[in-house]
Amino acid sequence: MSDPTKQFAPKPTVPQQAKAESDTPIYGTPAVRRTKHVTRQTLLERKKRGERFSCLTAYDATMAQIFDEAGIDLLLVGDSVANVVQGHETTIPVTLDEIIYHTKAVLRGVSRAMVVADMPFMSYQISPEEAFRNAGRLMKEAGASAVKLEGGRRVLEIVAHISEAGIPVMGHLGLTPQSIHQFGSYRTRGTDKKEAEQILRDAKDLERAGCFAIVLEKIPSELAQQITESLTIPTIGIGAGVHCDGQILVYTDMLGITNDFQPRFVRRYDVMRERMLEAVGQYINDVRTATFPSDEESY
Ligand code: KIV
Repeated sequence: MSDPTKQFAPKPTVPQQAKAESDTPIYGTPAVRRTKHVTRQTLLERKKRGERFSCLTAYDATMAQIFDEAGIDLLLVGDSVANVVQGHETTIPVTLDEIIYHTKAVLRGVSRAMVVADMPFMSYQISPEEAFRNAGRLMKEAGASAVKLEGGRRVLEIVAHISEAGIPVMGHLGLTPQSIHQFGSYRTRGTDKKEAEQILRDAKDLERAGCFAIVLEKIPSELAQQITESLTIPTIGIGAGVHCDGQILVYTDMLGITNDFQPRFVRRYDVMRERMLEAVGQYINDVRTATFPSDEESY
């Protein structure tokens, strides 16, 4: 008979392979899961090596866990949560507290991907000080690794203020959905020479102001290529062609969960809406016909 006390005997210490110092946290922490996650440096190195990276939006722990397990490099807690989760027509109504709530949830599902939190409308436009305070909440309360904000010339001072204080900032040029009421439509940006030159200038200025990456939304592929080649920081395209260093899509669009939004830049990798309708329809039918739950599914 085995000796039951042996069960609790301390295990012999197995010599651990020493970790590189750059892979360990700066102070001892009891339980750190995210020791080897993607950082701004990872993305920068990928650009230098010409290796593309992939990004998706995420708003909750369950989806974030799946995308992280699949190997996604970056998850953006986008203000598109206003459309996708909250059912609004624009991104304008979502609040900073709501982005903090969703970012916390996403972080609970992720062990490797970099998590970036969007700064919602009116959380950064008032003053550099207020922008810094709100960006700080996204880092300190929510645990994001970086923040994203929209715009060119008018946000340079804000970007400089936040990034000089140590918060990584992602820019966003081209179609900037928070300005929908100023532009009046979601048309492609940078199609005429003047607008294209302004977007290129803005991208260079954002890099100089301290951005570590820039989202380029719905601009011609050639313009995105010119911007990507002019910058040392990575570009992340959505409707901006194949030449960007990384790509991002809203996950409900690329998985085909939404059915009323099919612009040409969205590739649908599945039609999950139909599969979900079928599965839920089957469940409804099983409940109605008393074939669920079965004996095996009961206690
Ligand atoms: O809010 C969002 O999801 C975004 C991406 C589409 C880039 O800004």
